[in-house]
Amino acid sequence: MEYSEKVMEHFIHPHNVGKMEDADGIGEIGNAKCGDIMRMYLKIDDGIITDVKFNTYGCASAIATSSMATDLIKGQPVEDALKLTNQAVVEALDGLPAVKIHCSVLAEQAIKAALADYYTKQGVDPASKGIRITEHH
Ligand code: FES
Repeated sequence: MEYSEKVMEHFIHPHNVGKMEDADGIGEIGNAKCGDIMRMYLKIDDGIITDVKFNTYGCASAIATSSMATDLIKGQPVEDALKLTNQAVVEALDGLPAVKIHCSVLAEQAIKAALADYYTKQGVDPASKGIRITEHH
């Protein structure tokens, strides 16, 4: 199994790791297959994601994809973050081994779960924003 240089970089020195005390949205997602868990924290001001933090109890691919995913959504409007797919994250990392693709879903779903939490707190039904979360913890 070969990891790209970018995957190794993000695995060894992941970006945006940690907790956030004053998060506007928190999402936690577990992968039923391997038991890995990811928690995502979002700070949102005026519809812009101004800060992101994550914690993962997961494999190298889960850590690398979370790190890249948080980089990709930081500073972006929530609507754009909602459209982020795990494929886009994998591409930004120059690919993942085929058996590890499922790990990248964790980051995408954790972001969606955090945005669902954010919308719920705003009194907006997440379903009305098209948020669907497939893997729940
Ligand atoms: Fe569990 Fe990768 S093996 S997320």
